[in-house]
Amino acid sequence: MDAAAWDARYAAAPLVWSAGPNAFVERDLADLTPGTALDLACGEGRNARWLASRGWRVTALDWSPVALEKGRRLAEESDPPVEVDWVVGDVLSAPLPTSLDLVVVAYLQLPAAERRTALRRAWEALAPGGTLHVVAHDSTNLREGTGGPQDAAVLYTAADVLDDLGTEAGLEVVHADRVERLVPAADGHGPAGTAYDALVHVRRR
Ligand SMILES: C[S@@+](CC[C@H](N)C(=O)[O-])C[C@H]1O[C@@H](n2cnc3c(N)ncnc32)[C@H](O)[C@@H]1O
Repeated sequence: MDAAAWDARYAAAPLVWSAGPNAFVERDLADLTPGTALDLACGEGRNARWLASRGWRVTALDWSPVALEKGRRLAEESDPPVEVDWVVGDVLSAPLPTSLDLVVVAYLQLPAAERRTALRRAWEALAPGGTLHVVAHDSTNLREGTGGPQDAAVLYTAADVLDDLGTEAGLEVVHADRVERLVPAADGHGPAGTAYDALVHVRRR
């Protein structure tokens, strides 16, 4: 999907993703000391707004202006309002902030070569001691799980992320696993399904 297709998707519904943060982002990052953060491919900014509400100074970047406008409005309407620096840009080429304490990449689904570029850029944006948190639909979700993209070319595993980052870079792995996420039934009534995500939480030494 290109930026225009994402814009159309975001324009078609009041909220495409959840209002609150991703559960793994919340679980893993709630205890970090707030500093500077980048939410890369932020969509409507659910993670960016949550981080900002916890005292982080957040830049939220996505190539969909429609998504960012929704994020900006939700940030203003929060009680209390939160401040986020919303930036329209391509994860492959936009200038990124530097010396960050945290980069969050949630459900960025790109073909392997582009994914590697985006993740390496995210890694390079970190200060020593900074954290990179990546959550994505796992490759195994296609056959074993519920929902998510149905194109195997844009799915990946935690091992793929570590391979993208390389081991020479002074990388400390907090965890790198496949994790389960419960997905409510589409009609809100039937049994919930299980989705499989790739989850990588690493620190830059
Ligand atoms: C599945 S959504 C996830 C949004 C958000 N991270 C979240 O978890 O709520 C994927 C996002 O990636 C963005 N995206 C995809 N390719 C991109 C690119 N090359 N540059 C910037 N954003 C991109 C889309 O616009 C979309 O908002």
